[in-house]
Amino acid sequence: MKPYLLRHLSGEVSGRPPVWMMRQAGRYLASYQAIRQGRTFWEMATNPEIAAKVSLLPLHEFPVDAIIFFADILSLPYGMGVKIEMKESVGPYLENPLTPSDFAFFQNYDPTFHTGFVGKTLNSIRASLDPEIALIGFAGAPWTVASYLIEGKGSKQYLKILGSLFNSRSQFEMALKHLAKATTQYLQYQCEQGAQIVQLFDTWASEMPAAFFSEFYVDLLNEIFDGMAAKGIPVIYFAKHAHHLHEHFPRLRADVISVDSLRTMTEIDVELGGKFSLQGNLDPVLLKTASAEQVGQRARDLIRELQSLSKPSILNLGHGIFPETPVENVRALVMAGRDL
Ligand code: CP3
Repeated sequence: MKPYLLRHLSGEVSGRPPVWMMRQAGRYLASYQAIRQGRTFWEMATNPEIAAKVSLLPLHEFPVDAIIFFADILSLPYGMGVKIEMKESVGPYLENPLTPSDFAFFQNYDPTFHTGFVGKTLNSIRASLDPEIALIGFAGAPWTVASYLIEGKGSKQYLKILGSLFNSRSQFEMALKHLAKATTQYLQYQCEQGAQIVQLFDTWASEMPAAFFSEFYVDLLNEIFDGMAAKGIPVIYFAKHAHHLHEHFPRLRADVISVDSLRTMTEIDVELGGKFSLQGNLDPVLLKTASAEQVGQRARDLIRELQSLSKPSILNLGHGIFPETPVENVRALVMAGRDL
């Protein structure tokens, strides 16, 4: 039997939209903080026993319909030996950023050899997970992963990546192709090890020129999505604050589009021609700052809106949960569909 989230997406059941949250295994949980004490992020993420335990922490607090395994969008390059630090209040940091020509090394990617820790984590989660709960695999999208690797950290101006795009476009496209191929192998490996649906995170798609998206990137993403379709695995694509790209989205062969908090789901559904299932939209700032009652009210309104869309949808946030979000607010969101 497929988990509820997958049955819902394929239209086999109706009823409340399934719910999970981006960054649900993170610092807003005291249980996460306790395990994080005295360990680096990578010590946790590359230790399958700890990573599996952390992935499952949300279930001790509320009945989410899916578990996303604990790792990072940079776990693939990290597993291949790229030196990436997770710096407090900076995020990912590379002392020696890569150039596009360095990306040829992604051709040597061997999922089991370089990212076996991810496979073991997924195996271990699936072994103890209720079959009703979906296990989500994920990767960073090529543009966003390349942004971190080339800029060396989260950037404000993206001078290096946009510079590469404008000044050595063919080399830059070749770099993204190498990365996309490795990403497809990585996601296929995750599915072989227990992931039942995957999400591709393109957090910095906001910075991409629309012409590049249309001329090159749509086809690149579709190669990844087709690799998942070949395995019968649905794909969620998350591109944050990338509304300038939406006119080209109907050409994407993704199943679900994860939507940020800037516009309503109804507007996005119309704009994308009703082609996709939608996920997301509840503002993580509201989740952090409002009362549990207000969160419950907003979630119930959103659920009613989701139920009026063209295709079955998923209740989620517009972006990841902030640290210090009250757990009772998160519970109010998760329980909103069950209490209707
Ligand atoms: O969602 C989950 O609970 C699963 C695990 C997960 C993490 N990162 C763990 C993590 C997922 C899906 C991600 C995705 C990710 N990582 C994205 C895409 C989603 C998004 O937020 O836009 C991005 C851009 C990254 C890169 C990244 N990793 C940043 C910017 C940071 C620092 C910011 C922060 O929240 O601290 C990280 C570190 C990171 N990845 C942490 C976690 C739980 C914090 C580690 C810690 O200090 O304990």
